[in-house]
Amino acid sequence: MPERITKLNINGKDVRIDAAADRPLLYVLREDLDLTGSKYGCGEGQCGACTVLADNLAIRSCITPVDSVANKRIVTVEGLERKGKLHPVQQAFLEAGAFQCGFCTPGMIIAAVGLLAKNANPSDNQIRQALNGNICRCGTYPRIVTAVREVSRAD
Ligand code: FES
Ligand code: FES
Repeated sequence: MPERITKLNINGKDVRIDAAADRPLLYVLREDLDLTGSKYGCGEGQCGACTVLADNLAIRSCITPVDSVANKRIVTVEGLERKGKLHPVQQAFLEAGAFQCGFCTPGMIIAAVGLLAKNANPSDNQIRQALNGNICRCGTYPRIVTAVREVSRAD
């Protein structure tokens, strides 16, 4: 295992970094690269605020050593928009009012994008299951499920 990681692929671009192999991905994103969309909630893999995609799979970046994703395509909430246009999941969250304080929202959106990549037409139960580990202290769960359902219906 290399001691330092010097390159990551984030949001479609190769990015130079210099991080200890065991540094959590979330710290690299937020502190080294100023990508602060992914949030620090619990730091223990329990809340989902830090969720990012690695090769389309939703992972907890706070407990992911950066060397384990050095060869994967990482997507953060900053990487979802295209040419100034929100990703359909972002747009649906906005339209459904699926947030209050917004702290959980990037992780929820990323988890939903990960779900829809695997299953374009999930049932409400499948949506609930996929987002089960993402905690919203404001209790906006019903509107979050509505937003994800609306995106899947629009496809
Ligand atoms: Fe990563 Fe809570 S901050 S799961
Ligand atoms: Fe506040 Fe979810 S909107 S934690």
